[in-house]
Amino acid sequence: MSNQQPSEQRLWGGRFTGASDPLMDLYNASLPYDQKMYAADIEGTRVYTMGLEKLGLITKEELSEIHRGLKLILAEWSEGKFVEKPGDEDIHTANERRLGELIGKNISGKVHTGRSRNDQVATDMRIYVREELTKLAGFLKSFIEVIIKRATKEIDVLMPGYTHLQRAQPIRWSHWLSMYATYFTEDYKRLLQIIERTNVSPLGSGALAGHPYGIDREFLAAELGFNGVIGNSLTAVSDRDFVVESMFWSSLFMNHISRFSEDLIIYSTGEFGFIKLADAYSTGSSLMPQKKNPDSLELLRGKSGRVFGSLAGFMMSIKSIPSTYNKDMQEDKEPLFDSLLTVEHSILIATGVISTLNIDAEKMEAALTMDMLATDLADYLVRKGVPFRETHHISGECVRTAEVEKLSGIDQLTMEQFKKIDARFEQDVFETFNFEQSVERRTATGGTAKSAVLKQLTNLQSQF
Ligand SMILES: *[C@@H]1O[C@H](CO)[C@@H](O)[C@H](O)[C@H]1NC(C)=O
Ligand SMILES: *[C@@H]1O[C@H](CO)[C@@H](O)[C@H](O)[C@H]1NC(C)=O
Repeated sequence: MSNQQPSEQRLWGGRFTGASDPLMDLYNASLPYDQKMYAADIEGTRVYTMGLEKLGLITKEELSEIHRGLKLILAEWSEGKFVEKPGDEDIHTANERRLGELIGKNISGKVHTGRSRNDQVATDMRIYVREELTKLAGFLKSFIEVIIKRATKEIDVLMPGYTHLQRAQPIRWSHWLSMYATYFTEDYKRLLQIIERTNVSPLGSGALAGHPYGIDREFLAAELGFNGVIGNSLTAVSDRDFVVESMFWSSLFMNHISRFSEDLIIYSTGEFGFIKLADAYSTGSSLMPQKKNPDSLELLRGKSGRVFGSLAGFMMSIKSIPSTYNKDMQEDKEPLFDSLLTVEHSILIATGVISTLNIDAEKMEAALTMDMLATDLADYLVRKGVPFRETHHISGECVRTAEVEKLSGIDQLTMEQFKKIDARFEQDVFETFNFEQSVERRTATGGTAKSAVLKQLTNLQSQF
């Protein structure tokens, strides 16, 4: 190379022995991780060469030779027999090099006509991502169905509902389950929208300016199962929003999984004792024989940080790169692949956890306390025509009196004590102190009454 300096003139010798820095080859190479996309890359080339044949840039015979070679390469990858060679920088160069070996460079050399690695990699990524997200949607659907099944089966169990982690009002255990099924169903719907937006074709955009031989991009898109083409060639090669959206989706989903796990961790403590994890998802302590640690749930909670970190990192990598392709964009792969794999495993682990844990219905119900019916007491007076602002105050007075008198709960106040606080209390006030009835009063849509929870579960089920 003309700009090569003689080694004695270099300011720093270091690793330089020849024309290149061997560390740079490693630093630059993406094959170790982008080989995951081997099938997408082969499919992209298979269809692209059909487009070339339609243009008369390759013959029918050459096309069938190319397709024969691609089939062989696909088999090599899927059987783990593909041999990587020095100079295979990424999955695209590796596949093209191998194709040359199999069918001869005279034909393989035509494959890349009018195509750039820029539209090639964008195409491969979109094919790969849409398939991974579709797989995740399937796992997520099964997870939600397990939650719905469990909620239907255990509809009769009551437990405390919490705000600020303080006992607030009695709810059904199934209402808690249905809450997460609702979150996860929204995640599912959001995922389908992202798949839709991912599924558009950049192929045929060249390096940036467009295809020089007028390739039929709509044909390529349809053959590759895309819903359409990206309408601007500069956008087509530079857009990684589908990667960002996939990682945002992963982060939000992991956030939900993390809260779900945190609840279950709390419910599994000795103090709560609402649930017991199956042995497969918990670990004994190495020192304290009595302990059973909820490792699975702690990992689900912890891995949410890693997935969000991937999103934040990639956003920083691309936030101010100039338009169209820049090598920074290669940094999309490792965080994305790691996020997708972490989410996939997390869904499967969470499905295992929720389908095998045991609940202790007696402990859940024993955790209900009469003070949790203070709102119901206020509602009792509302039904007698007293404005709620006033009844809230009166009910608070009852709670205070019970505390001052050191009673076990507001239900232990005598009729005289009630009357002293407010003359509008009558004998039927004692009917308020029933957890089942408290729950059953909440029949409005989305509430915790049995009929309302069952309706939620049916609605969720109908979305799939
Ligand atoms: C880096 O890899 C790309 C392929 O992704 C290749 O075209 C380029 O020559 C490599 N650059 C260096 C400096 O090794
Ligand atoms: C490849 O093309 C060159 C130049 O046209 C020709 O000399 C050579 O025989 C060809 N090789 C094969 C294997 O067809």
